[in-house]
Amino acid sequence: MEKVLEVVILAAGQGTRMKSALAKVLHPIGGTPMLSHVIATAKQLSPQRIHVVYGHGGDTIQSQFGDDDLNWCLQHEQLGTGHAVLQALDHVSSAATVLVLYGDVPLIREQTLHGVLQALPGHVLSLLTANLEKPEGYGRILRDEQGKVRGIVEEKDASEVEKRISQVNTGFLAAGADDLKRWLSKTNQNNAQGEYYLTDCTRLAVQEGGSVTVVDCNDVEEIMGINDKQQLAVCERAYQRRQALQLMEQGVTLRDPARLDVRGKVIVGRDINIDINVILEGQIQLGDDVKVGANCIIKDSSIGAGTEIKPNSVIEQADIGNRCQIGPFTRIRPQTNLADEVHLGNFVEVKKSFIDATSKVNHLSYIGDSEIGKRVNVGAGTITCNYDGANKHKTKIGDDVFIGSDTQLIAPVELGDGTTIGAGSTITKDTPTNQLTLSRAPQVSIKGWQRPRKAKAEGKN
Ligand code: UD1
Ligand code: CA
Repeated sequence: MEKVLEVVILAAGQGTRMKSALAKVLHPIGGTPMLSHVIATAKQLSPQRIHVVYGHGGDTIQSQFGDDDLNWCLQHEQLGTGHAVLQALDHVSSAATVLVLYGDVPLIREQTLHGVLQALPGHVLSLLTANLEKPEGYGRILRDEQGKVRGIVEEKDASEVEKRISQVNTGFLAAGADDLKRWLSKTNQNNAQGEYYLTDCTRLAVQEGGSVTVVDCNDVEEIMGINDKQQLAVCERAYQRRQALQLMEQGVTLRDPARLDVRGKVIVGRDINIDINVILEGQIQLGDDVKVGANCIIKDSSIGAGTEIKPNSVIEQADIGNRCQIGPFTRIRPQTNLADEVHLGNFVEVKKSFIDATSKVNHLSYIGDSEIGKRVNVGAGTITCNYDGANKHKTKIGDDVFIGSDTQLIAPVELGDGTTIGAGSTITKDTPTNQLTLSRAPQVSIKGWQRPRKAKAEGKN
């Protein structure tokens, strides 16, 4: 009978070296807390339960994972990795296989963990190990004369000879829950760090006559732990490289994979082109043939097929139709919905508005709380005056409206279908369909008018 799997994630470390008020495991990788990456990977293994051992920042940590079905285990004092695992084992069924993960080692892959679990049958303990050119800081794998694993020695407890061993303990391991409980009840703090070491289980298992197996991990990024801001940055780059490779595998053309940042999830169509320095955040959907120009930031938005986002545009919470032309320098704010073939140009800001098919707002405009019909042309410098200092009001613009440049539309106001607005107008009342409406002081010229002259400076006395 296959044993059930329970995962224990160690996340109680203080993270002093991060020099931050934020708990270490909440620092983001790709825009989401590093712990959430570990939880997501754990879930791919479909365990019976996931236990998270926490110590510092308990409430803030738990509140970030409200929706997840996690068992939170408090470790009051950080007495070592062995002590940490024990806190969770009280909640683990003794018949289960336990897999230990780390909240600050976020890039571990599901296949690698699967390998650790698959290696376990026939042994009592399966360790994920790695061969490192620079093994400093890691526990080293000790072997007997026959080459069988006999223990792990921590760097701080290691002799000079042991320090030359290049095979290291990554910390990840799998074992039976009852075995782990028995071994951990026998560990003590008689070591250089005065901690209960999880790694002592290896020696204890061998002493009982059990066999310990190791699985080597070839990708050092997967086992990279984060203790300070420099390691956080290295890990972030490694994560972004993975995102970029994945997108290219899906057929996306990236001008420079090192100059794209994905902080969320991107769903892509075919033949997408992304120029340099682009940030994609949250939930993003890009349709076929979408082009994203340099320096664009797109957050929680969907972009329809054939649409081009030109450089330096910022788009948030927008639903953009097919074959639209956006930018350069357009800002689209939340709750904006554009139908097909809409054009928005430079220095145009749109907020909480719907713009229907083929309408154009090409230069220097603010469109807020508005509904714009089809085939509308909004002239340069048009402003919807949606805010009276207390409340927001709506502007409704019918189909086939033409708005002359530098017009203010004082909301609430409605322009009938086919309205033409003369340039420079301040529109305060609804306009009838198919008529020219304008508000403009008559133009005058004054004969013989002279420009004022600069007054002479008074002499000093
Ligand atoms: C540990 C291993 C070492 C291995 C290395 C890999 C032990 C004794 N040593 O060392 O062999 O090479 O990881 O990175 O296990 N934690 C708790 N509670 C505690 C102590 C730690 O939750 O009381 C958590 C930390 O938050 C961290 C993880 O356990 O996520 C590892 O702890 P850390 O102190 O960094 O272990 P190392 O000394 O690096
Ligand atoms: Ca330590």
